[in-house]
Amino acid sequence: MKQTVYITRKLPNEIVEKLSQFQVRMWEEEGKPVPREILLKEVENVNGLICLLTDTIDEEVISRAKHLQIISNVAVGYNNIDVQAATKKGIIVTNTPGVLTETTADLTFTLLMAAARGIPAASDALRGGQWGAWSLMEFTGQDIFEATLGIIGLGRIGEALVKRAQGFNMNVLYYNRTRKYDKERELGITYAEQSELLQRSDYVCLMLPYSPEVHHLIGKEELSLMKRNAILINTARGGLVDEEALYHALKSGEIWGAGLDVFEQEPVPVDHHLLTLTNVVTLPHIGSASLKTRMKMAYLAVDNIIRVLNGDVPLTEVRL
Ligand code: NAP
Ligand code: GLV
Repeated sequence: MKQTVYITRKLPNEIVEKLSQFQVRMWEEEGKPVPREILLKEVENVNGLICLLTDTIDEEVISRAKHLQIISNVAVGYNNIDVQAATKKGIIVTNTPGVLTETTADLTFTLLMAAARGIPAASDALRGGQWGAWSLMEFTGQDIFEATLGIIGLGRIGEALVKRAQGFNMNVLYYNRTRKYDKERELGITYAEQSELLQRSDYVCLMLPYSPEVHHLIGKEELSLMKRNAILINTARGGLVDEEALYHALKSGEIWGAGLDVFEQEPVPVDHHLLTLTNVVTLPHIGSASLKTRMKMAYLAVDNIIRVLNGDVPLTEVRL
């Protein structure tokens, strides 16, 4: 009998075809995550699960699985999965690191530039007929070249971001839970404790994974340490930032602006008060969204399934 794989969202045919040795079931409704009750039912008898970051694979889901050998997340972040519960049950968890690094760094830098120069607001003003005579101080933003970039979480994407910043002659500070002396030498960057980084940076980019320990890492107190011209960029996870505190800091001018690709609740409600501010650039979690990269992520997720269900070690296992 064929082993079975459940896929929680419609994937391109060429990806699904790679799984022809298995019996595959897939949630096919476009643009809508699999309802929880269906996921709970489907997971009961499958050998492999391919899921997205929108699927909460918690202890309850894991406890229902009778034959599950692998949970393959099509994302590098895996905070949607209770890895501890899976590991306790002998289920392997995999993610998609590396293949999305450069694309996500591109988007993070794009967001930084768009927020610095107020691109969406200026473009909206033009389209709204508010472009009067050219005037000296209208639509003025912040410089990027030679500014100080502070990166919290110097991993794969953080490092790729440094390389982009260097093209703009930026001075780069970083904070990481483990100090990376080799990277300091190799990249010419400077370590700073988080509070010092917040005080000295013109741009603060969050590039660390989310976990309950870093919930609201950036809140009222941290925002109050930042410069008045500073811009906060978050392409990591929404839960890292206290959105209420951010709203007040942006509204009162405590910081200059923000660029957000991720939110505490996704999709972000259209009446969310952060969306009312012109000094915030907002995107719908598209960090890794290039055609090539999304395909690479899907292929990697599928390769992990094929390997594990054939008794091989996965390519990219998540280890706690
Ligand atoms: P990574 O290589 O694992 O890098 C994460 C870095 O954060 C590591 O250097 C890690 O330090 C550090 N870190 C972990 N916890 C920390 C803490 N409490 N304080 C300070 N530093 C801490 O991961 P990555 O591939 O760069 O991805 C980073 C995150 O980006 C993902 O987890 C995901 O949430 C997000 N992401 C978002 C998108 C998007 O579409 N917006 C796309 C891709 C990724 P150690 O070296 O000590 O482990
Ligand atoms: C996207 O957010 C990812 O973690 O891959």
